[in-house]
Amino acid sequence: MTRMRSVRSAALPAMFFGLLALGANVPAAEVHLDRWPSERANDPAALQHGARLFVTNCLNCHSARLMRWNKLEEIGLDATQIKGQLIYGDQRIGDMMTIAMRSADATKWFGKAPPDLSTIIRANSTVEHNGTDYVYTLLRSFYRDQSTSTGWNNAVFHNIAMPNVFWQMQGPRTATIVRVERNEHAGENPAKLKPGQTAMPWVRVRSVYDAQGDVQSTETGLSTGSETKSARFQALDPVRAEATDNDIADIVAFLNWMSEPKKMERFHVGFWAMGYLVVFFLIARWLNNVFWRDVK
Ligand code: HEC
Repeated sequence: MTRMRSVRSAALPAMFFGLLALGANVPAAEVHLDRWPSERANDPAALQHGARLFVTNCLNCHSARLMRWNKLEEIGLDATQIKGQLIYGDQRIGDMMTIAMRSADATKWFGKAPPDLSTIIRANSTVEHNGTDYVYTLLRSFYRDQSTSTGWNNAVFHNIAMPNVFWQMQGPRTATIVRVERNEHAGENPAKLKPGQTAMPWVRVRSVYDAQGDVQSTETGLSTGSETKSARFQALDPVRAEATDNDIADIVAFLNWMSEPKKMERFHVGFWAMGYLVVFFLIARWLNNVFWRDVK
C-alpha cells in the first residue's frame, strides 16, 4: 500500500515532535471513509453470516492464523455446522484457520502476499479512523480499470494487488474519481506549456471509468486548495449492489470480532455491571430514606 501507509507512518513522528516540516511532507489525499454499521458488532446473525462469507470469499487467499475453527462456537455456530459447512479439506476443528497457498506463491501470483486477516481491523485503526470503517470502505471501493494488471483498481488503495472478489455478486458499476493534486507544471513558464497545461499550483482531474474499466472522459481543470480525492460509484444493478454492501458489512463485523473476540464478552460484562450499579443505587436510596425518616 503506497499512499495510506506513508500517511500513517508520517503521522506518528509528526505527533511526537509536533512539527511537520513545512510543505516537505504534505500527506497524500485520502477518500472519505464510510461509516461501518457498528450495531452489527454484537449481532450473532451478522457475525455468523460474516464468518460464512469470510470462509468462502477470503480464506482461499488470506489466512487467519490466530483463530482456531472451534472458536467460532463463541458466535453461536456449533461443531457440526463448523465441520460440515465451513471446513474444507482435511483440517480439524481444533486447527488454526490457515490456507494451503504458500506465501512465496502468492507473491509470485499477485506481486504482494495477501496479509493474514486475524487482526487486520486493529492493524488498520489509527488516530484518525476506525479499522472497521477503513476495511468497509476499501472492500466497497473497487472499480474496473483496464490500465492495471488485475483489471481492477481501488479508490481507497490505489493500485491494490487484490482483485474485486465481489464483482459477480455486485454487478457492473461505473466510477467517477476526482483528484485534486499538485501540478507537475506548477510555476513553469506559461509560454512553454502545451495546450491544456497550466502553471497553477493545483489541478483537478476528474476521470470517469465505464463498467469495463475504460476511461470515458478525463477533465483536467484548475484548482486551488489542497490535495483531495473522492470517488462515486454508479451501480447498474442497484439491488445487487445493495445486497453486496450488506454482505460486506457482515464480513467486517466478523473481521472486527476476530481482531478482538473478547469485545463481545466485555460488552455483556459491562451491561451487567451497569445494571448492578443501577439496582444498587436504588436500594441505597431506599435505605437512605428509611434511615432518615425517623430522625427528621
Ligand atoms: C485472489 C486473492 C484474494 C482474495 C480472494 C481476497 N484477497 Fe484481500 N488481498 C489480496 C492481496 C494480494 C492483498 C495485498 C494487496 C496489496 O498490498 O496491494 C490483499 C489485501 C487485503 C487487505 C489489506 C489492505 C490494506 O490496506 O493493506 C484486506 C483488508 C483484505 N485484503 C481483505 C480481504 C477480504 C475481507 C477478502 C474476502 C472478502 C479478501 N481480501 C479476499 C488478495 C486477495
